[in-house]
Amino acid sequence: MSLSGEKAPQKRYRIAWLPGDGIGIEVLAAARVVLDKLHFTAEYVHGDIGWEFWCKEGDAFPQRTIDLLKSVDAAMFGAITSKPVKAAEAELVPELKGRGLVYRSPIVRMRQLFDLYNCLRPCKAYPGNPLNFKENIDLVVFRENTEDLYSGVEFNQVPPELAEVLARLSKPFAAFKDLPGDQYAISTKINTRKGSERIIREAFEFAKKFGRKKVTVVHKANVVRATDGLFLETAREVAQGYPEIQMDNANIDAMCMWLLKNPFNYDVLVAPNLYGDIISDLCAQMVGGLGFGCSGNIGEKLAVFEPTHGSAPKYSGQQKVNPIATILAAKMMLDWLGETEMGARLETATAAVIKEGKVRTYDMGGANKTLEMAEAIAAKL
Ligand code: NAI
Ligand code: MG
Repeated sequence: MSLSGEKAPQKRYRIAWLPGDGIGIEVLAAARVVLDKLHFTAEYVHGDIGWEFWCKEGDAFPQRTIDLLKSVDAAMFGAITSKPVKAAEAELVPELKGRGLVYRSPIVRMRQLFDLYNCLRPCKAYPGNPLNFKENIDLVVFRENTEDLYSGVEFNQVPPELAEVLARLSKPFAAFKDLPGDQYAISTKINTRKGSERIIREAFEFAKKFGRKKVTVVHKANVVRATDGLFLETAREVAQGYPEIQMDNANIDAMCMWLLKNPFNYDVLVAPNLYGDIISDLCAQMVGGLGFGCSGNIGEKLAVFEPTHGSAPKYSGQQKVNPIATILAAKMMLDWLGETEMGARLETATAAVIKEGKVRTYDMGGANKTLEMAEAIAAKL
C-alpha cells in the first residue's frame, strides 16, 4: 500500500512457459486459469523443450530456450517424456541418423546450467483429501539438485586410464582392472562442501523463517562415508548457527520406515540429490500422490516450478489428470516472486475445493476433468 492508501500497481513479470509434452500441456493450461483469475500480471513466453525437439533438432533443450530462461523472472514447466536413448538407437530416427547423438535429460541439464541447487518440495495433507495417508502431515523436503549421483560423470565404457588410476588407488577395484571396459560401469557420486552447505543452510533458514522446530538430515554416512560423511559433517557445522532449531539425522533406509511409521516426528528434511529424490516421492505419496506433488528448482537468479510427475502418456490428451500439483507449483512461484498474498489466496482456494470434495479428478475417486478442477479453484478466488 502507498501512503495515500492506494495499492501500488503490480509489477508485470516475464514468465517462461514450458509445457513440454503429454499431460504437461494440460496441467500447465490449468495453472494458467488460476493465475489469470488472480490477475497475476505477466508476459508468458513459450519455450520449446522435450523429446519432440530432440527428434527434430537433436536437442531436447534448444539454445533458444536456454536464452529465454536467461531473460525471465521465473519459469513454469509441465512435464516431458524422457527416453534414455543410446547413440546406436538414435540411428533409427531418420532425422538423427549419422549424428552420433545420445539423449540427455533437459531437466537435469537445466538444473545444472542455471545452478538451480535447491529442489524444494512441500508435502502437505490438505484436509478432506481422500488420498491422505494420515491427516495433518506437513513436511518440507529440501533436495540438493545439482551434485551427488546425478553429477552426470558416468562411464558405461570405462576408459582404460580411469581403470588404471582406480586400480592403483583402491584395493577392491584392482580385481576389476582386467575386465573389458564394457563389462562394468561407473557412475560417480560427487558432493562438495559448498554444495552441501548451501542446501542445508536453505533448510535451516526456512525453518527459522516459518517457525519450524526441527531439521532432519537424511544420508547413509555409515556406509557411504566420504560423500555422505561430508554432508552430515557440514550439516552439524551449519546447525550451530541455529541454536533454536533442533537438528537430527537418519539413514535413508531407516528414514523411509520411520516416515511411514510416524510422519509427525518430522518437519523439515534435507538430503543430497538421490536420497532427496526418493524421500520426496515418498512424502508426496503420503499427501495424495503425484497429483499433489509440487516442486521448485530454485537458484540465485532463476527458479523453475513444476509438478513432480512426468508426462503420463497413457492419460495424455484426455483432460483426466489432477492439476493440483501444478497449481500448487504456481503458488510456490508466486511466493518466490514475493507475491505472497496471491500465493496464500491460491492455496486457500485450492484447500477449500479439496475440503468440499465436490470436484475431484479420477485419482481422488471422482470423474471431473483437469480444467474443471482448475475452474473450481478459480471460482473460489
Ligand atoms: P508419470 O509421473 O508420468 O506417471 C505415472 C502415473 O502416475 C500415471 O500413469 C498416472 O497414473 C499417475 N499420475 C501422474 N501424474 C498425475 C496427475 N497429475 N494426476 C493424476 N495421476 C497422475 O511417470 P511415468 O509413467 O513413469 O513416466 C512417463 C514419462 O514421463 C517418462 O518418459 C518419464 O521419463 C517422464 N518423466 C518426466 C518427468 C518430468 O518431466 N519432470 C518426471 C518423471 C518422469
Ligand atoms: Mg523423482
